[in-house]
Amino acid sequence: MALTTYNHISVPSFMYGTAWKKEATARLVELAVRSGFTAIDTANQLIHYQEALVGEALQALNAKGVKRESLFLQTKFTSVDGQDHRTPYDRSADLTTQVKQSFESSLQHLHTEYLDSYVLHAPFSRRGLGAADLEVWAAMEAFYKAGKTKMIGVSNITAAQLALLCQQAQLKPMMVQNRCYAVMAWDKEVRDICRQHGIIYQGFSLLTANRDVFAAREVHAIAAREGVGPAQVIFRFAQQVGMLPLTGTTNQQHMLEDIAAERISLTADEIARIETIAL
Ligand SMILES: NC(=O)c1ccc[n+]([C@@H]2O[C@H](COP(=O)([O-])OP(=O)(O)OC[C@H]3O[C@@H](n4cnc5c(N)ncnc54)[C@H](OP(=O)(O)O)[C@@H]3O)[C@@H](O)[C@H]2O)c1
Repeated sequence: MALTTYNHISVPSFMYGTAWKKEATARLVELAVRSGFTAIDTANQLIHYQEALVGEALQALNAKGVKRESLFLQTKFTSVDGQDHRTPYDRSADLTTQVKQSFESSLQHLHTEYLDSYVLHAPFSRRGLGAADLEVWAAMEAFYKAGKTKMIGVSNITAAQLALLCQQAQLKPMMVQNRCYAVMAWDKEVRDICRQHGIIYQGFSLLTANRDVFAAREVHAIAAREGVGPAQVIFRFAQQVGMLPLTGTTNQQHMLEDIAAERISLTADEIARIETIAL
């Protein structure tokens, strides 16, 4: 079941993440698409991602008949703070120029003329939003207005920062991507703001940040009833509370299982129990 942003863009209900795959990136992206994923997340940030190898996989898939339009491509602008010496832009240029250069380089890496979603990897400011954040956001808004990306969004953002961005930006974000901790009620404060504004919430590290939940008796009981594994229970819980989960699995069996999570259904009581399981 797809999710829809406030600007009426439909987004697949599960996303394949490409961080930390190194030289296996192209092979794994092809495998993920052949296993059923239609949404791919990457970033123009060589420390953690190989965006050009995602593009290589897209070309190989295209040659086999998987058209660009059938895929949802999301990538990110990463500021100098999150890069090593290999910045995909002139680091001495002003921020607007940096974002433009990074965006153009992403289009080249991904062999595409447009993106489905363009994301600010993280605000510059730890608290609040500063002039740098608003300048980068305005540059991203310009890509949206020019039709070069269907959505713009932000990652690694606090609830207070998101509320500010919704107030101060000309265009509020259409998606948020955050690490989702059960001990923080699965990022409830941020998710609540997203719900109020029609913003899609993408959750990452759902398994790796919540190892106690993965091992919890309640989760295993649901998994046993449904004949699935605990990962599927957590991913399905995320979907049923309105999130778009990411997985970065490197294993085809897990890819197939993660996609199939949508076939199971947790009861309202089970969802309520998992929502507060780590509080
Ligand atoms: N915006 C940001 O700053 C940011 C930061 C981190 C990540 N991300 C994005 O989010 C994506 C996902 O990251 P993540 O941290 O959620 O995932 P991840 O670190 O790739 O971890 C997924 C883990 O879950 C395991 N797993 C997946 N499906 C499973 C299953 N069915 N059964 C058992 N184990 C399973 C994987 O093991 P196997 O490989 O063995 O399956 C792997 O250890 C990244 O690739 C990236 O695109 C964004």
